[in-house]
Amino acid sequence: MIEGYILSNIRKVNRVLVTGGTGLLGAAIQHLAPKDIKGFSIYFPECSFPLQLPYPIRVADLTDRIQMKTIFEWAQPDVVIHTAAIGSVDYAEKNREQTRRVNVGGTMVITELCQNYKSRLIYISSNAVFDGRTPFYSETDPVNPINYYGQLKVEAENIVQHSGISQAIVRPILMYGWPYPGERDNPVVWWIRSLKEGKPIKVVDNVFNKPLAAWSCAEVVWAVIQQNRTGIYHAAGRDHISLYQFALAVAEVFNLNKGLITPVPDSFFPEIAPRPRDTSFDTTKMEMELGVKSIGIRDGLIRMKNECPDTL
Ligand SMILES: NC(=O)c1ccc[n+]([C@@H]2O[C@H](COP(=O)([O-])OP(=O)(O)OC[C@H]3O[C@@H](n4cnc5c(N)ncnc54)[C@H](OP(=O)(O)O)[C@@H]3O)[C@@H](O)[C@H]2O)c1
Repeated sequence: MIEGYILSNIRKVNRVLVTGGTGLLGAAIQHLAPKDIKGFSIYFPECSFPLQLPYPIRVADLTDRIQMKTIFEWAQPDVVIHTAAIGSVDYAEKNREQTRRVNVGGTMVITELCQNYKSRLIYISSNAVFDGRTPFYSETDPVNPINYYGQLKVEAENIVQHSGISQAIVRPILMYGWPYPGERDNPVVWWIRSLKEGKPIKVVDNVFNKPLAAWSCAEVVWAVIQQNRTGIYHAAGRDHISLYQFALAVAEVFNLNKGLITPVPDSFFPEIAPRPRDTSFDTTKMEMELGVKSIGIRDGLIRMKNECPDTL
């Protein structure tokens, strides 16, 4: 039972549209979807083969109003979960026009269509809205992004917040899990691959995080939907660790050679985009208001190990 929560607030959701259906979070959201909700999803561009995903999926470019209107006609969503974005911080820094078109322009298209179709919007933002100087960040802390990707997330949040539609924003921190075949890797997958091949890796030991299993973030998203919550929710794991400590934990759980991992300061990598040092979240709201437990690294990684794809 969630403390202080009024059950009459719960509104029946019958149909959901997930943007970024082949993405790490988009796929996790579908795998955790309540059985009584009819789901639909989209991805773009057509670079992967969306087999074995729970929701029927179509190819559509977020930035194309006409294509997206056709998608809304198809899905008739009560709720749209907008996960799709260009998620690489370095790619965003180098490809500003394209990233703005997708991450801000695409969010504008989705927001307008939510207005027209009276759909509720759950926008997936990021920890990159913060500068990383004063953890642990709560939902009321002022944003101050230090890279272009973070700036665009703030812009997109503003569009959603000022749209007048029913909406909520979920900000995940660094997520891990098995990506859909052909999709973007995350550090955990990259470390496992390298260590399995016996390749030495250098991992930053002065950037801190509270890594989040993608399925745990999906739990937050579904709790927001099912409890009809509005406002901002931070989603993070329980453990506050450096990336180096995280890589050591990965090696331990997957029985890989820790000796191949060398700690380095972030200055070791000639960075394209500046990275905040520690954007770790305060998870009180996620845990107390939504009733979602934050998950420790070990538990998250063991679950990942148990779901290891044959291809790895
Ligand atoms: N991963 C993290 O650590 C992290 C941390 C904080 C916040 N976030 C945010 O969380 C959200 C989900 O992240 P993720 O890691 O799950 O993303 P991801 O794995 O990179 O997947 C992104 C998805 O968006 C789709 N997409 C990209 N451009 C599109 C367009 N123009 N039209 C329609 N679909 C498009 C991609 O389709 P294709 O694959 O076909 O290109 C893919 O399905 C993103 O908004 C990201 O910014 C992620």
